[in-house]
Amino acid sequence: MQVEFQIFRQLPPGPPRLQSFWLETSPSATILDCLNQIKWEQDGSLAFRKNCRNTICGSCAMRINGRAALACQQHVEEELQPNRPHPTRITIGPMGNLPVLRDLVVDMQPFWNDLSRVDPFVSTAGRRIPEREFLQSPAERDHLNAASGCILCGACYSDCNAKEVNPEFVGPHALAKANRLVQDSRDSRREERLQAQDNLSGVWGCTRCWNCNTVCPMGVAPLDQITELKQGILARYPNEKPVSEVSRPIRHRKTLVQLVRSGGWVDERRFGLQVVANQGRDPKGLLSLAPLGLRMLGKGKFPFRFKASSGTATVRRLIDVVRQEGLE
Ligand code: SF4
Ligand code: SF4
Ligand code: FES
Repeated sequence: MQVEFQIFRQLPPGPPRLQSFWLETSPSATILDCLNQIKWEQDGSLAFRKNCRNTICGSCAMRINGRAALACQQHVEEELQPNRPHPTRITIGPMGNLPVLRDLVVDMQPFWNDLSRVDPFVSTAGRRIPEREFLQSPAERDHLNAASGCILCGACYSDCNAKEVNPEFVGPHALAKANRLVQDSRDSRREERLQAQDNLSGVWGCTRCWNCNTVCPMGVAPLDQITELKQGILARYPNEKPVSEVSRPIRHRKTLVQLVRSGGWVDERRFGLQVVANQGRDPKGLLSLAPLGLRMLGKGKFPFRFKASSGTATVRRLIDVVRQEGLE
């Protein structure tokens, strides 16, 4: 069958351009097979990474038809788009959130730098080194299976919305690794690791867009790992602890629940004051609210009064049930 491969070509600082290659191939060929064929038979200057050809090394991650995937894992038949204007066209580009070096090759250094921020090694500091080895039960080891499957391909990082808007965000791959270590019974830095991710560069920077779970070729499910990390962080702050003494993202979460529980929906005046200004304890936060408050006043959108919802009692009961079930 004839398939058109529309490939982003770029040699920075020049701009990217699209180049089409027509190829006689079979539906069962992988995208990597096709790229090899193009390189060997049509244009030897086409640059892309590859190594194992078997979904092991993570080298061949790129954007195929708009989302990150491994070129050696995707087959031509899965990528044809019968309902699109060009049913036999497959578009290929470099991964996102990383600088392009040439064509489909990106500079992975930011990805490795972010990984190193979570200290991605099991720490045995402070422990007595056993004479032979550290032992884990099968159940303890099984719990690490998903996160341990990461091949560091970068697909999740490429398609992470949080990384795109917040360069400080450490990335789904790093948070998955952080959780793998938090859950590892041999690691002695659990508390430090949880504390290190309790901010907007860590777990609270994630927008829960689900892209990382969708594109990860190894079933790591980074968002699930992030959720488990969040649960570990929240467990360090029991409900009795005053919201003024917790981090701002946790204050945000807890204040939201408190306000909805008391009035059925959010009293936005108190929400801003409690979360951003920390009840006046954070003068900078208080000042930062002023421009928004003034704009709202100007547009007649500032709520001077708060009217509790008529369904408050029901909402309260629901929240209490969730709490009793330990699901909050
Ligand atoms: S769910 Fe979070 S970490 Fe995953 S891609 Fe979206 S923003 Fe990034
Ligand atoms: S979590 Fe998945 S997508 Fe992200 S780097 Fe690891 S294997 Fe690749
Ligand atoms: S070439 Fe190794 S994962 Fe694709």
